[in-house]
Amino acid sequence: MLNIKYDFQLKGLNTLNLSAVAAYFIEINTQTDLIDALQFAKKESTEVVVLSGGSNMLLPEYLNACVLYINIQGIQCIEEDETDVLVQVGAGQNWHDFVLYSTQQEWYGLQNLALIPGKVGAAPVQNIGAYGVEVGEFISYVSVYDCIEKEFVTLSRNECHFEYRNSIFKQNQKRYIIVSVVFKLKKNVELKLDYGDLATAVGDNKTPMNLQEQVIRIRRSKLPDPKEYPNVGSFFKNPIVSHQQFMQMHEHFPNMPHYTQADGRVKLAAGWLIDQVGWKGKHLGKVGMFAKQALVLVNYADANLEEVKATYTAVQNDVQQKFNILLEPEPIIFEENGLGHL
Ligand code: EPU
Repeated sequence: MLNIKYDFQLKGLNTLNLSAVAAYFIEINTQTDLIDALQFAKKESTEVVVLSGGSNMLLPEYLNACVLYINIQGIQCIEEDETDVLVQVGAGQNWHDFVLYSTQQEWYGLQNLALIPGKVGAAPVQNIGAYGVEVGEFISYVSVYDCIEKEFVTLSRNECHFEYRNSIFKQNQKRYIIVSVVFKLKKNVELKLDYGDLATAVGDNKTPMNLQEQVIRIRRSKLPDPKEYPNVGSFFKNPIVSHQQFMQMHEHFPNMPHYTQADGRVKLAAGWLIDQVGWKGKHLGKVGMFAKQALVLVNYADANLEEVKATYTAVQNDVQQKFNILLEPEPIIFEENGLGHL
C-alpha cells in the first residue's frame, strides 16, 4: 500500500538544503512500490522525479512532480570464487556505510570512494569517482526499471557507458530507475595509491583499512560537511580540453594542474581555475565557494535556486573571461516540472 504525501517539503532531503515543495512524494521500499507509484503518476499525468541521497541535485522552490524516494535496502553476496565476490546492494543503501561494510568484509576496491555522500543507486548515475578510482570499474551490472520498455532489466558494465562523471543513466534520466547495483569486488588486497599525495598519506601501513581512513581524513580536511555547510560536493566537472587548447593555456599558465587522459585530451582542475579568478572563499549574497576547496559551492543562509544560479553563473563568467573555458555544473538542475527540458 503506497503512502502518498502531498505538498511535501524536500529541504531535509537535499544536501544543498534548498527549500523545495514536491506536489507528490512517495517512499519506494520495494519493486512493487515502484510499479504502483509509476501507475499513480501516470494516472495523475505528472512527471516523475527520482530522489536518492539528494546530494547531486538542484531543486526549484516548487516541484510539480511525483517524487519517488528510493529506499530499497539489502546487501547480499550472490556469488564468489577465490579472487572475486559479487555483491548485490539495494539502491537505497547509504553509500559510505556500504563502503565501510565492504572493507569490514575484506572486499576490496571501493576504499578510495569512502565518505562520498549519497546512496548506492546514485553512484552509477554520475559514475562517482575520487582519488584515482571510479565506481564503474567495480560494477558488474545494474538492475533498473526501464520506463520505455516497461520492464525490469539488467545493464552490464559495458552497457552502462561509464565515463568521467557520466553514464547511460545520466544521459537517460527519464528512462532508467535504478533498483540495485551488483559490484564485483576483490578478495585480494590491491590498493590504488597513485592519486596526488595519497601514497604519502598511507605511508608504510599499506592496508585497505588505512587507505580508507586516509581518504576519510583527506576529505574531511578539505570538503565541508553538508550538515554544517550545505553543499553538493564538487559543483563543476573538471573540464576536459584538447591537447592543442591545453598547450596554448600551458604557455600562459605553466603551473596549471593537469591530467592527460588515455585519448590524449587533458583534464584540468576546475578548483584551480576558480581559485585563480579569486572565487575561493568568496560569496555573492548567501551563496559562495568554500574557502578550503574552491570547487564546492555552499549555501550559507537559506538561499533559493535563483541565488545559487546567480553565484555559479558569476563564477562561470569569471573563469570564461580569464581562461576561455565554460565550466559545466556537475549536479542535475531540475525545473518546476522535473526534467522537462530533456
Ligand atoms: N586546487 C586549487 N584550489 C582549490 C581546489 C583545488 O588550486 O581551491 C587544485 C589542487 O591544488 C590540485 C587540483 O586543483 O592541484 C585538484 O584538486 P583536488 O585534488 O582537490 O581534486 P579536484 O579535481 O578539485 C576531484 C573530484 C572530487 C574528488 C577529488 C579527489 C571532480 C569534479 N571532483 O576534485 O570529487 O573527491 O578529485 O579525487 O572530479 C565530487 O565529485 O563531489 C568530488 C568531491
